[in-house]
Amino acid sequence: MEIFETKKELRQYLSSFRNEGKSIGFVPTMGALHEGHLSLLKEAKQENEIVVCSIFVNPVQFNNPTDLQHYPRDLEADIEKLNQVDCHVLFNPSEKEMYPEPATEKYDFGELENVMEGQHRPGHFNGVAIVVKRLFEIVEPERAYFGLKDYQQLVIIHRMTKDYNIPVEIVPCPIVREESGLAMSSRNERLTAAERTEAALIYQTLKMVKIKSGFNTIKEVNEYVMRQFKKHKHIKLEYFEIVDMYTLQPLQTWAQSNTVIACIAAWVGNVRLIDNIILFS
Ligand code: PAJ
Repeated sequence: MEIFETKKELRQYLSSFRNEGKSIGFVPTMGALHEGHLSLLKEAKQENEIVVCSIFVNPVQFNNPTDLQHYPRDLEADIEKLNQVDCHVLFNPSEKEMYPEPATEKYDFGELENVMEGQHRPGHFNGVAIVVKRLFEIVEPERAYFGLKDYQQLVIIHRMTKDYNIPVEIVPCPIVREESGLAMSSRNERLTAAERTEAALIYQTLKMVKIKSGFNTIKEVNEYVMRQFKKHKHIKLEYFEIVDMYTLQPLQTWAQSNTVIACIAAWVGNVRLIDNIILFS
């Protein structure tokens, strides 16, 4: 695997492949790689001749300084994992390389960012859009791979590529879970063994939500979720929303949409986790 730390060298390296007409698949990450990330890389490998992964813990998307400070980093282990899946290129820029000057771009995703993660993490999606757009401009991929785990992020990135006419296909990839059902996340590393077991409640609840969505009202489902979380004192529900998959707007009745997803954010100890389940599509 080739490793680049500068935009210039990466661009130079990729331009020869581009000139030969080879397709470039791109998987942006913040490192601390797990099977979720690797599944994106494997899919990219199947569909492209060259696969580029980026690892950059993007400071401008963290609204919580403690979260940034504690974000897990292990470049050596990441490189080993990338070699195991035969990733061709790693882009691992410094903060100075990505932000020679403080970033000032402002994006407006309207109603897509006024809910859920956007509402609870002010500035988060602006920071995500800043870095992903810059990465797209450096890598110029034909396809880019994003996990359904961060569903709102996926929708917003997709919107950004449309708004700015970025010629990249956004490929959504399924959520990879631990045996307990807990969605894999770099932040899971920060859970104690006991917290990790308890965190399984998040997906257990989502699975029950899917079953209930056939015959309970949305209000009843919301109440069910509140009750489940109240029983567990080490887990704090931040939000649970049943929303339209495209507009991300909360629904009052099932009849309002036939593409429906339930999204959740919860604190397990001092770690914030998100997950979701598609109810109708
Ligand atoms: P990060 O959290 O490292 O995730 C990188 C990619 O891996 C995202 O597309 C995310 O949805 C996907 N992913 C994470 N856990 C997953 C799982 N359990 N199953 C499937 N896919 C999973 O998301 C980011 O980084 C950043 O916001 C980034 C887009 C890189 C911009 O900084």
